[in-house]
Amino acid sequence: MKQASHTLTAPAAVIVIFGAAGDLTKRKLLPALFNLASQKLLSSKVAMVGIDRVEMDSEAYRQNLNQEISSFVGKGFDQKLWDANVGRAYYMSGDFRNAESYKQLKEFLLEVDREQEAPGNYLFYLATPPSFFGVIATELGKAGLSQESDGQWRRIIIEKPFGRDLESARELNATLHRSFAEHQIYRIDHYLGKETVQNIMAYRFSNGTVEPIWNHRYIDNVQITVVESLGVEDRASYYEEAGALRDMIVNHLLAVLSVVGMEPPNSFSADAIRDEQIKVLRAIQPFDPQRVLSDAVRGQYGGGRMGKGDDVCAYRDEPGIAEDSPSETFVALKLMIDSWRWAGVPFYLRTGKRMPGRYSEVVIQYKHAPNMMFRGALERRKDIGSNQLVLRIQPNEGISMEFNAKVPGTAFNVSQVRMDFDYDDYFDESNTASGYETLIYDCLCGDATLFKRADNIEVCWELVQPILDVWKALPPRSFPNYASGSWGPEAADELLARDGNDWRVAK
Ligand SMILES: NC(=O)c1ccc[n+]([C@@H]2O[C@H](COP(=O)([O-])OP(=O)(O)OC[C@H]3O[C@@H](n4cnc5c(N)ncnc54)[C@H](OP(=O)(O)O)[C@@H]3O)[C@@H](O)[C@H]2O)c1
Repeated sequence: MKQASHTLTAPAAVIVIFGAAGDLTKRKLLPALFNLASQKLLSSKVAMVGIDRVEMDSEAYRQNLNQEISSFVGKGFDQKLWDANVGRAYYMSGDFRNAESYKQLKEFLLEVDREQEAPGNYLFYLATPPSFFGVIATELGKAGLSQESDGQWRRIIIEKPFGRDLESARELNATLHRSFAEHQIYRIDHYLGKETVQNIMAYRFSNGTVEPIWNHRYIDNVQITVVESLGVEDRASYYEEAGALRDMIVNHLLAVLSVVGMEPPNSFSADAIRDEQIKVLRAIQPFDPQRVLSDAVRGQYGGGRMGKGDDVCAYRDEPGIAEDSPSETFVALKLMIDSWRWAGVPFYLRTGKRMPGRYSEVVIQYKHAPNMMFRGALERRKDIGSNQLVLRIQPNEGISMEFNAKVPGTAFNVSQVRMDFDYDDYFDESNTASGYETLIYDCLCGDATLFKRADNIEVCWELVQPILDVWKALPPRSFPNYASGSWGPEAADELLARDGNDWRVAK
């Protein structure tokens, strides 16, 4: 039987979205707010104020939303619910760089509070290009909109990317801290909001059988893969600046690693969990230039064929991409963690575009059984696979365990079989949630567990900075070095082959 989770309604607040006419707001934030409302997790006194430079009033904004929202929410859209809630969406046009906009916003918010009988709590969501994060936080501070008083809270959600290197991340943290205290800052990583990433914590820390074997004595290696079949699509200008290392490794894969690798926290409080995550990130062996050359692989897709389908062009032939672009669309890393738990266990991270499939998963590759008593009965020890636990983040969220079973028959043969748990089979909500629902809800409730703290951001940048430096100093000579529709450059396979391992390919 399917089970639904029951949670309390989040406290009332005005959610102010900077970048209200932008892509993220339409595709993710508004559907997330709608889904929260449909699950009755939003107070009836929650209002939304959108700000953007497009000139229009609240009425025109609502009309726009009326036309678009059903396609963005997709299945599960309920017109009646929308009609009942759209009146709580407001719009103010303004320029993020203009101090006057913030004075107007202050007045506007007081109006909205009065109209909605809201208690004066504000959540500022910066769904804007990253160059505005510092400016908006500073202007909010100057306008007195970051100050908390009389039990009224002020929180700010910062989208990714958080900086583009160590120095800019430090600068941005310093700028934010001039207007907001750390407890008011929620740095988003929608990966941490995903059910399955949280389920890794639930799986590890609520099952007595898991933790005892979650260490170097039983685990041979860990693989974290986040790949997609799409190319750069319409993100050319962003991607040319960012590349896969900044876009995916710093933001998402290290977040997943921290959940897989952390020690059990003392409690389920935000800081207890984030303290443990930061400890494991700090324990990753730093890269020096030599290790960058041996343990960091970069790639860029060439033309090719996706599955049995279309021929697609090379990254450098995509619109808006330089013909000699050095941006990487693929990264594979081998990380080693200096801790008692993980000594000697490689963590392999891999992300790429134009791969044969779109999926995100964590593979826990267990060691072989210590004594192969079947060795004599079978041809080779390799024929008996070791146990593999796969934590699937997307699509088909779930967990599967591969283990060996005897093949029925008179001969003694062993084959790998799989036990599967699919979220959809047990729980109701997993279809609709994008991660943003959880993160917005948690922020309204003041729960920062799934958001990144300043020190976490800086430690991640410290780790990748030497890679950025070496890659900049040594421009890639072999790009493009993998065909679209393949699993990336050969060097990524060699990275594991050197250790006697290979990447798991999702079945
Ligand atoms: N889109 C996604 O799926 C996604 C996913 C993860 C993270 N993010 C992050 O979310 C943030 C927003 O991304 P997005 O794709 O939604 O960007 P976007 O579509 O460019 O939206 C930004 C909005 O802000 C407006 N704007 C720009 N400068 C302004 C100014 N000076 N004053 C007032 N309004 C201004 C833009 O107007 P114009 O269009 O006129 O410039 C646009 O409507 C980025 O940090 C991005 O990295 C996005």
